Amino acid sequence: MFAKINSSYLYGISGVGVEVECDVSSYGLPSFSIVGLGDSAIKESKDRVKSALKNLDYNYFTHPVTINLAPADMKKDGSHFDLPIAISILKAVGIIENNTDDCLIIGELSLDGKLRSVSGVLSMVEYATSCNIKRIILPEGNMQEASLIPEAEVYGFNELSDVIGFFRGDIKKEPYINNEESSELSNVFYDADFKDVRGQFQARRAAEISASGMHNFIMIGSPGSGKTMIARRMPSILPPMTLQESLESTKIHSVAGLIKDSGSLIKKRPFISPHHTSSNIAIIGGGSKASPGNVSLASGGILFLDEMLEFSRSVLEVLRQPMEDRFVTIARAGRTVTYPAKFMLIGAMNPCPCGYLGDNRKQCTCTQNMIERYRAKLSGPMLDRIDLISRVEAVEYKDLMDIKEGEASDIIRQRVMQAHEIQAHRFKNENILYNSEMNESMVRKYCLLDDDAQKTMEIVMNKYNISARSYSKILKTSRTIADMALSNNITKSHILEAFQMKLPDSAI
Ligand SMILES: Nc1ncnc2c1ncn2[C@@H]1O[C@H](COP(=O)(O)OP(=O)(O)OP(=O)(O)O)[C@@H](O)[C@H]1O
Ligand SMILES: [Mg+2]
Ligand SMILES: [Zn+2]
Repeated sequence: MFAKINSSYLYGISGVGVEVECDVSSYGLPSFSIVGLGDSAIKESKDRVKSALKNLDYNYFTHPVTINLAPADMKKDGSHFDLPIAISILKAVGIIENNTDDCLIIGELSLDGKLRSVSGVLSMVEYATSCNIKRIILPEGNMQEASLIPEAEVYGFNELSDVIGFFRGDIKKEPYINNEESSELSNVFYDADFKDVRGQFQARRAAEISASGMHNFIMIGSPGSGKTMIARRMPSILPPMTLQESLESTKIHSVAGLIKDSGSLIKKRPFISPHHTSSNIAIIGGGSKASPGNVSLASGGILFLDEMLEFSRSVLEVLRQPMEDRFVTIARAGRTVTYPAKFMLIGAMNPCPCGYLGDNRKQCTCTQNMIERYRAKLSGPMLDRIDLISRVEAVEYKDLMDIKEGEASDIIRQRVMQAHEIQAHRFKNENILYNSEMNESMVRKYCLLDDDAQKTMEIVMNKYNISARSYSKILKTSRTIADMALSNNITKSHILEAFQMKLPDSAI
């Protein structure tokens, strides 16, 4: 008596196929074993499946029952094998006779046979439909998420007994229809709008350049000057997410177990703002389940490090690799997983420990030594990876009342989208989207300077002893500034503006 059920498990944010094989022998002593490199959650499946089936009066555990999760050479984890294991047993003993070859079955069981939602459903359903397994049987709480894959026929259940009824033909059910439209992606509303930011012309300009070329960006200014306020408004000037970006972000959040029951597509660009006490694992990912960290949750959006210099030095150091590679690899118990990390880094910091260096309202009380120690945390290599640095001056209280409402996010976003279009056209034969992602050979190919710009660059390079990495960062930012001005060539004024926003001393 043998049966086989299709299921899946997660490898990073991809679903991988698993066949749950079951053999119930007529002879031998009672036993129940699960083989096939499962983790402790899978071992615990035994108890849940046994109780759930016994409570429905299906007691086949007086026979030897063997479950194999094939392929057996891959480590698997998750509690979502409960349901396929239970169904495979019922199939092996003939309670369920109908064909299940076109079904993917996932779900956790409670001891009394209720179905519980699980993580990572979107990725697993995507895998199933890609190999023509169309019918998806899962907990009702995961139904909405699974139906984001249009080819899937999704059937959601609350009870194991209903799943059995469905397979035996006693319960009739239509697939779940998702009424959510992906076209809504362009109609996302952000409640934090740039029109609330008064004054701050330099920081607003830097924010727009940053969004236009997806450049990393740091703001330096005294307390209350509006740094956090500007950072929070960055998602509102970025173009709407593409369906692909939206699905990828939803998968990452699903794998991290963050959308178990809501199940709708993530349509707003993520804005992830970890606390400065966060650990390396929280930022990069890892832990016992190798979960995605903040760098991956922020993929497609913004990772905001508020009070940036309060983060431990090791956190700032580990960020360097994903900032460069746009993905992060986590090693855990004999296997490695890779998650996307396509975030834009925005940092905010005070210019000195007391916060008032360069402020015209209040005197700084720090010694030169204190200031140097404070800044030293932002190591050279980290600073090298930042394209834009902007000083944010405090707005006087009377000006806050006087200065008229700032330009609205909607209008800025139109210009940003135009700059993105120019880049999409430029990079149509490359595998990148934005100026900030150019490699050295692309920089040489696409950042052409006119004569005047060339001379300016030479003077600046010699005068300020600029590193090679900073040099190419300045060229990339200049490219974005030129694109914003619809200019084919990079001119002297583009170079000067990019340079002014790169050199930290000019921001302080
Ligand atoms: N340019 C501005 N326009 C309108 N309101 C502002 C502006 N700057 C500051 N504010 C007001 O001041 C508050 C504090 O600003 P915010 O928290 O962004 O400052 P911050 O620079 O992050 O300060 P800190 O260094 O203390 O974190 C805002 O919530 C806002 O109400
Ligand atoms: Mg702040
Ligand atoms: Zn100070």
